[in-house]
Amino acid sequence: MANTMEVKVPDIGDFKDVPVVEIMVSVGARIEKEDPLISLESDKATIEVPAPAGGTVKSIEVKVGDKVSQGSLVLMLDVDEGAAAGTPASAAPVAVTAAPAAAVPAAAQPSAPAPAVQPPAAPLPAAAAIAVAEPAAAPVVGVHASPSVRRFARELGVDLSQVGASGPKARIVKEDVQSFVKRALSAPPMAAPARGAGLPFDLPPLPQVDFSKFGPVETLPLSRIQKLSGPNLHRNWVSIPHVTQFDEVDITDLEAFRKVQLEALKKQGVRLTVLAFLVKAVARALREFPTFNASLAPGGDSLVLKKYVHVGVAVDTPDGLVVPVIRDCDRKGVSEIARELASLSEAAREKKLKPTDMQGGCFSISSLGGIGGTAFTPIINAPEVAILGVSKATIRPVYVDGAFVPRLMLPLSLSYDHRVVDGATGARFITHLNGLLSDVRRLLL
Ligand code: COA
Repeated sequence: MANTMEVKVPDIGDFKDVPVVEIMVSVGARIEKEDPLISLESDKATIEVPAPAGGTVKSIEVKVGDKVSQGSLVLMLDVDEGAAAGTPASAAPVAVTAAPAAAVPAAAQPSAPAPAVQPPAAPLPAAAAIAVAEPAAAPVVGVHASPSVRRFARELGVDLSQVGASGPKARIVKEDVQSFVKRALSAPPMAAPARGAGLPFDLPPLPQVDFSKFGPVETLPLSRIQKLSGPNLHRNWVSIPHVTQFDEVDITDLEAFRKVQLEALKKQGVRLTVLAFLVKAVARALREFPTFNASLAPGGDSLVLKKYVHVGVAVDTPDGLVVPVIRDCDRKGVSEIARELASLSEAAREKKLKPTDMQGGCFSISSLGGIGGTAFTPIINAPEVAILGVSKATIRPVYVDGAFVPRLMLPLSLSYDHRVVDGATGARFITHLNGLLSDVRRLLL
């Protein structure tokens, strides 16, 4: 028959009225001698109270937040046969760690590594000394966790600084480590995180500079669109291996053709710009190169090929960049594309775009040709796999048939996702595009 034992807080040195921050056992639980029962945390240290004997927890006499001192009753334990009973048992505190350094900014940390374990205010009994001497691995400063949770994390190879805390006072409890491990195990393989959630980087924080020390400054809040698009741009930039392929297209003939058509179409209310031809040419090239008209499937091990061709066009608005989408560009003529382009960019600038106007794009075009510049490296608009940047066309001397002749040259910058498109295919795509734009008859056929 089991004997019941009162388990009390042991000698914890100078500490008094120390709050209970974690209860690691439940009523009915079977425990072994030395298993941690509760965790206490003072300003200076975290202390665990271990079981003085093996047995079954009969009742728990403290709750999180209670303040305890040496001799406070922790729980009643039905001890295994053969163990001493009847008399109150005080366990030796099993381990003590330094209080978390969360309040200390990284820059303010001493350059010498902080000890993983700091001695408590008073000498500890032998059991504590053993625990303190345990190989401490790398100290995880700035996190809030009991020695047993730290030990548990160490056994699983979990970096506690990556684990979210659900315990009181932002404390990491055992369940937090377990859920972290579960999430890590159920996450898709390396190719996939690149498309979303956590990034496998551990970068130092950016320096915090007080610019006003160097001269007058003014703070300008980011626009709503900038705040929304910034994190997506950042994710796309760091998670997609971009390659940017440049080319120059001779659009002299295209421009001559455009000028001829311009007046006639103006009467119908259509403004025929170079961009409309570019959208059409891209749509034709996407049909020819299906891997450009695709997205990586979740998990990153297959491609979703799209049988439709919807092209997004980046539009600069006073509030920031938006990308409305022109649908089925492969089935539309250049003048129809020009008409839609004008109405979508007007709606964008008047903030009248509907969310659906910006969805379903297969590929994006970003044209800075109306502004200037010779080339740039556009950021892919995930989950698309490529984007075309367009810079300002200029008249340049081109060597043709033994002589330099003036030609209107349009610079193109094609960024593609190198996981999906290899270099040769990227070069073939832009060469194909070049062929379509430099011979307008091919484009319109
Ligand atoms: N080379 C030379 N001139 C060009 C050109 C090019 N590649 N593209 C446009 N132009 C000229 C146009 O012919 C027009 O000239 P005009 O006034 O004499 O007729 C002028 O530049 C302005 O063109 P724009 O009104 O910009 O029309 P568009 O059809 O070329 O572009 C938008 C429409 C909506 C894409 C454009 O106005 C826009 O917002 N561009 C910015 C996109 C952006 O910010 N991207 C950045 C992403 S990082």
